[in-house]
Amino acid sequence: TGGWQGLIREFRDRLPVGDATPVVTLLEGNTPLVPARALSERTGCDVYLKVEGLNPTGSFKDRGMTMAVSKAVEAGSEAVICASTGNTSASAAAYAARAGITCAVLVPEGKIALGKLAQALVHGAKLLQVQGNFDDCLSIADGLSQKYPVTLVNHINPHRIEGQKTAAWEVVRALGDAPDLHVLPVGNAGNITAYWAGYEVDRSEGIATRMPVMLGVQAAGSAPIVDGRKVDDPQTIATAIRIGNPASWDKALHVEKASGGDIVAATDREIHNAYMFLARNEGVFVELASAASVAGLLKRSDAGLVARGQTIVCTVTGNGLKDPDWAVSTAPQPTSVPVDADATAEALGL
Ligand code: F0G
Repeated sequence: TGGWQGLIREFRDRLPVGDATPVVTLLEGNTPLVPARALSERTGCDVYLKVEGLNPTGSFKDRGMTMAVSKAVEAGSEAVICASTGNTSASAAAYAARAGITCAVLVPEGKIALGKLAQALVHGAKLLQVQGNFDDCLSIADGLSQKYPVTLVNHINPHRIEGQKTAAWEVVRALGDAPDLHVLPVGNAGNITAYWAGYEVDRSEGIATRMPVMLGVQAAGSAPIVDGRKVDDPQTIATAIRIGNPASWDKALHVEKASGGDIVAATDREIHNAYMFLARNEGVFVELASAASVAGLLKRSDAGLVARGQTIVCTVTGNGLKDPDWAVSTAPQPTSVPVDADATAEALGL
């Protein structure tokens, strides 16, 4: 059949795969770059949303996971392990199921969204809830992968970054060049590293004529890079980026400097406002961590720090359906009515 073949097949010349690599794919990638009218009006720029929640498991993690699991299987691995704030585990569980291998997952107990928990469970992962935070989970998973025959599929596995570069390539192909400014949420700082590396490939091959300025956004209660020190007890409603000691901290600082950009913090209130703004004004339902990108953009723009007329891409990393508890508990509540047209009309204010 024709059509999109998944990002390994689409970009195979540019990825470290060969004829011997089994392609474990759910046809991830090729996500839409949606023009954001309300955000464009508010900022005086051309703003686009790279809607990564439309990947097979609902987040950008699938880009890295198709690579990491394919390479693990190529190397003969029969099990993968990861630490996660939820999305990586959902993706690892799905791709491991696809490959017919075992998946072990360590998540911080009580701190991951319900939809993500459901995904890991339904795909048959061995899920352990650790009585600690993400950083604790990662150090255990990393240690186990060195001692036992299980492949770590967190982004410190270099194949993850290779796969995630493809998002930048898709942006360049959609816009005809790199944007002026690229905004995205930052947790472990794998994705900001991957986008930058992806743009560099296109720039060096002349497919893009420029590099974007990169703006990374952390949640204020979990903003080690902005604060300049580890956060022992990170807090934020954006649980996906509740990370106190990012694995790619130094790489994020490099991208900030090399791009002439910035890493900033958005408060939980700002993140929630951006989440509602996207849902109400753009019709795009993202998870809270993803709204951090838009919160950072709006904050900078409201402060007069974003020149008008620029082309801006905000990556919205995960689907809003991942976290139904949050949505239902904070959005306006539904009204209950009897089976009666008049009562229904009255309740609707008709
Ligand atoms: N947005 C979402 C929805 C995420 O799930 C993550 C990371 C990020 C942004 C940050 O990306 O870590 O590359 O800077 N989630 C990881 C996980 C930690 O376990 O799912 P990053």
